Amino acid sequence: MKKPFYITTPIYYPSGKLHIGSAYTTIACDVLARYKRLMGHDVYYLTGLDEHGQKIETKAEEAGLTPQAYVDGMAVGVKELWKLLDISYDKFIRTTDDYHEEVVAAVFEKLLAQDDIYLGEYSGWYSVSDEEFFTESQLEEVFRDEVGKVIGGIAPSGHEVAWVSEESYFLRLSKYQDKLVEFFTAHPDFIQPDGRMNEIMKNFIEPGLEDLAVSRTSFTWGVPVPSNPKHVIYVWIDALLNYATALGYGQEDHANFDTFWEEGTVFHMVGKDILRFHSIYWPILLMMLDMELPDRLIAHGWFVMKDGKMSKSKGNVVYPEMLVERFGLDPLRYYLMRSLPVGSDGTFTPEDYVGRINYELANDLGNLLNRTVAMINKYFGGQVPTYVENVTAFDGDLASVVAENLRAYHKNMEGVDYPRALEAVWNIISRSNKYIDETAPWVLAKEDGDKEQLAAVMAHLAASLRVVAHLIQPFMMETSNAIMEQLGLAAEFDLENLELAALPAGLTVVAKGRPIFPRLDMEAEIDYIKEQMGGGSDPVEEATEWDPATVELKNEKKAIKFEDFDAVEIRVAEVKEVAKVEGSDKLLKFRLDAGDGQDRQILSGIAKFYPNEQELVGKKLQIVANLKPRKMMGLLSQGMILSAEHDGNLTVMTVDSSVANGSQIG
Ligand code: MSP
Repeated sequence: MKKPFYITTPIYYPSGKLHIGSAYTTIACDVLARYKRLMGHDVYYLTGLDEHGQKIETKAEEAGLTPQAYVDGMAVGVKELWKLLDISYDKFIRTTDDYHEEVVAAVFEKLLAQDDIYLGEYSGWYSVSDEEFFTESQLEEVFRDEVGKVIGGIAPSGHEVAWVSEESYFLRLSKYQDKLVEFFTAHPDFIQPDGRMNEIMKNFIEPGLEDLAVSRTSFTWGVPVPSNPKHVIYVWIDALLNYATALGYGQEDHANFDTFWEEGTVFHMVGKDILRFHSIYWPILLMMLDMELPDRLIAHGWFVMKDGKMSKSKGNVVYPEMLVERFGLDPLRYYLMRSLPVGSDGTFTPEDYVGRINYELANDLGNLLNRTVAMINKYFGGQVPTYVENVTAFDGDLASVVAENLRAYHKNMEGVDYPRALEAVWNIISRSNKYIDETAPWVLAKEDGDKEQLAAVMAHLAASLRVVAHLIQPFMMETSNAIMEQLGLAAEFDLENLELAALPAGLTVVAKGRPIFPRLDMEAEIDYIKEQMGGGSDPVEEATEWDPATVELKNEKKAIKFEDFDAVEIRVAEVKEVAKVEGSDKLLKFRLDAGDGQDRQILSGIAKFYPNEQELVGKKLQIVANLKPRKMMGLLSQGMILSAEHDGNLTVMTVDSSVANGSQIG
């Protein structure tokens, strides 16, 4: 019997629509869950939502909903997304679930009773966006008043902090510092990739662990402390415990906890930004509760964009729904798993996305399958010939390349190095394509050719494709199933005993192979993705928000520096012409005079609000003049027209007619 395997994603804050970054972690865990299942493990895969805390309370307020109604709506959206991405989770936990709240409250009281939690006074800097406390020295930037007193600051994440001074409960982290170091020393592989543990030691443990404030009194959306309900339990304590409560810890039915926590391998995957919580607070909490510690903590890097972090205000966010709708699910799963190097950040670019689909999926893999199926049909009436080893001069090398890459694949899957695991699969694919060129079946098929060699070549190709279909099964289920189907095989997979070997006798491939990945028009598709990524504050780009979270989280912008604001060029521009855009019920096309002697074309998504758009001609508007030009519906837009949103309507910002065109606003 293999050890049961428990894998978890972080639980996400439902504070906005999830982008490809959160999709990355969830798919990465899904791949491992599927791999382990195919390797014969009993797997339990957990994901869910972190629904308490001040951030959620504020978002709900902004949306005009109660926090519960708000998170209920978001939970529906997140579950739909995981369905779209075919995530094979066994349980979806929400921290507002009753069983979870009850255990969190009980744990808090237990720790209070055993003096691992005590009541004190907290003063410090708090970032609501991160739900995290900072000391002054940890802040990226501090703001001071005229006399030099610190009055605010910016956390390393870029979010603003505010001074909090209140009665608070504290968790005695300091008492467990030595035990934590002992644990790290005894388990040098606990945190992966290597090197991260040292960072944690150097930056947080060696300077000395301070006790952590674990309750708040300034808001109410959380689990109240039973013995002192004006305090709510700190959202991170609440959240971390999800990994245990989801399995039944502290509840009557704890069979899953026994199997997967006590007897199984416990595997957490998190982004590098939340490693500290998982490598310090979580193990210490578990020590306090006298529980087993997890086996592995993987910290992955981030998907970023060319211009830095993804953010709505930058208008560079990529949502998974759009990519799936346009290109299908498998390319997304493949791209995300192939492109993020272990432990470091990776850049998402539309060029790379479309390029990988065309070169690696359509060309390398798609062609191998097409050519193989077509040749077996042509030369053998669709019957896969019997597999015999070492008939042509190239069979030996093909077999050894497959064997070597099979080993590399498993090693890298165990190490959660997906780019390398997929590289191993693509080595097999490339070697197989080369094998076709080397053996030249079209020559072997001639009158004076060699039928025996031709048969061996077809059998080897079919066998190699079967191996590939198995190896990509955790990543691309549909493609993997399609390859098996085209080879005439049932979609049954066993990664444990996989090798390049004979296929069952009497196998018939499909009569007409269908391309598994269509070739894309690179330029057009790159443009399409770019258009979809455009500026978040332009109503044209209105992201399709989840229901009832029609919760457009427009106030999500963080504080900016004066220079950032100063970089925006807002000018007065007069409307010379305006017209509806064909094929769009949202867009209006403007020709404007912004005082620079040139015609300027701007597209704006306000058609709905101006059914008689000609009334705008002659009006003087405010425009962002230095916004990078971009295309919408194939038309160039050179700026953005400012408008105010009120009661669901948009009204353009007009300026008195006496102000000259081109005047700068600021
Ligand atoms: N709620 C906490 C986690 C509690 S776990 C007990 C939280 N939530 S989060 O929604 O802000 O982030 C969840 C995960 O998404 C983190 O692991 C984070 O690293 C990951 N990502 C968010 N943006 C990302 C990218 N752009 N790229 C890759 N992962 C990113 O933190």
